[in-house]
Amino acid sequence: MRFSYRIDDDVELSLAEVRHAEEVYQLVKDNYDYLRQWLPWLDEDYALEHARDVIKQNLLNLSENKGFSMRILFQKRMAGNISYNFIDWRHRRTEIGYWLAAPFQGKGIMTKACRALIDNAFHEMKLNRVEICCVVENKRSRMIPERLGFTLEGVLRQGEWLHDSFHDLAVYSTLASEWRDKDSPSKTR
Ligand SMILES: CC(C)(COP(=O)(O)OP(=O)(O)OC[C@H]1O[C@@H](n2cnc3c(N)ncnc32)[C@H](O)[C@@H]1OP(=O)(O)O)[C@@H](O)C(=O)NCCC(=O)NCCS
Repeated sequence: MRFSYRIDDDVELSLAEVRHAEEVYQLVKDNYDYLRQWLPWLDEDYALEHARDVIKQNLLNLSENKGFSMRILFQKRMAGNISYNFIDWRHRRTEIGYWLAAPFQGKGIMTKACRALIDNAFHEMKLNRVEICCVVENKRSRMIPERLGFTLEGVLRQGEWLHDSFHDLAVYSTLASEWRDKDSPSKTR
């Protein structure tokens, strides 16, 4: 059984199953230094068991309607990951989180993957608000909500603990009403 969503000829989203743990672990390990700069969950003792536990927790979250992650495949190879970090059904809002392995940067993969999750959040899940939060210094990450026309709402001072120090967190959002106005099949970027 495959749970996947094709974005275009190159990019596909696919739900991670426990059998994918090794692939996830290897990709994270191969990109460890570059990813650790920005990912607070990536600890020094990251291990295959951790990748397995995260996949199991993700399947549980999906079954409980609390949010889920998808592997991002580029030309059938795993390139990264994208998640609804949580789903707040009462207030109909979610937050998207993501990472890409270094060699896959610069191709627009994450912008496309975000667009797919945002479309799904508004059209299928009928949510009202999507947030993306980025450490202020993480310019590549901030470019994604900016490219997608999100509004920068403000900065949570020292909003994120990144391994050894606090960092300011830029909070971006888009609303269903705004996204509808931008939504057109002719969008390319
Ligand atoms: C954040 C991160 C996903 C950004 O990756 P990215 O490659 O810059 O983002 P995209 O995949 O959307 O690609 C955008 C780039 O592709 C280019 N591009 C090419 N075709 C494109 C298209 N169709 N649409 C959009 N951009 C396109 C853009 O010009 C941009 O290139 P540039 O940076 O040279 O200007 C990546 O740097 C990363 O994973 N970093 C480490 C983990 C991390 O920081 N996670 C986020 C924590 S908040």
